Amino acid sequence: GLATALSSGALAQDISGKVIGFSQIGSESGWRAAETSVTRQQAEERGVDLKFADAQQKQENQIKAIRGFIAQGVDAILVAPVVATGWDDVLAEAKEAEIPVVLLDRGVDAPEDLYLTSVASDQIEEGRVAGQWLVDDVAGADCNVVELQGTVGSTPAINRKQGFEEAIAGASNIKITQSQTGDFTRAKGKEVMEAFLKSSNNGADICAVYAHNDDMAVGAIQAIKDAGLKPGTDIKVVSIDAVPDIFTAIAAGEANATVELTPNMAGPAFDALAAFWADGTEPEKFIITDSKLYTAADDPQGEYDRRKDLGY
Ligand code: AHR
Repeated sequence: GLATALSSGALAQDISGKVIGFSQIGSESGWRAAETSVTRQQAEERGVDLKFADAQQKQENQIKAIRGFIAQGVDAILVAPVVATGWDDVLAEAKEAEIPVVLLDRGVDAPEDLYLTSVASDQIEEGRVAGQWLVDDVAGADCNVVELQGTVGSTPAINRKQGFEEAIAGASNIKITQSQTGDFTRAKGKEVMEAFLKSSNNGADICAVYAHNDDMAVGAIQAIKDAGLKPGTDIKVVSIDAVPDIFTAIAAGEANATVELTPNMAGPAFDALAAFWADGTEPEKFIITDSKLYTAADDPQGEYDRRKDLGY
């Protein structure tokens, strides 16, 4: 009955005392920092002993950290894979050691049996949502878009590009005129946007910037202002993540739209591990988080406050 289901559910949630290694990419963005702090909070609430390793954007550091976790005999490993390729060997080593691995927020090009589950957004959908916003917003007017891509070889960069292109495919008025990586950072977003502006008649030929994350958008906004233009008006700004700083920009009219990526990937990951340890329940291979669009119509100040309260 329900009571039994609830009590076994409660037992299934108990993962206190487990030792879980987390190989984090680094701290390239506000979103990444939020994911780190939410993961720590989630671990603390559940009594998990979280071993945290910051890879400073380098895959080789992630592989070393994972090998270290395997050597220590942790109960599980969380990894946010910086790029898609090159994981087969280390994942096979974890599998051999019977340590379940959960991927967080980015995917890998590796056989699915090498990890327990992947908790991430549908990154193609994120790109589509951003692109569809632009299609609707320009309503048939000509629009040249410059694109700030995420880290080369990462699934969010590959998929957000693809999704956006799909959304604008039917709109012959919208064209991507320049596209380069800004590595998901504010500093590189600004630098690349400066170069885009210089090669586009000081921005006169640019209608919109599509950034694969909010931090690059915030950098681009600064570059647009430095060029004497108004971000949000002269050049529209659409990006992904929904971190507090983009809501500040949206509230000020300097950014137009963002697609939310929850920083709480660890919650579903721990739930999946809890069920797996309780009775061997195999989770869905892909646990997909929501991709909600926010604009100035969605109470940006309230959204900013809500995230600050959550500990972003
Ligand atoms: O993998 C998720 C992406 O990584 C976020 O959108 C970006 O901000 C981060 O660097």
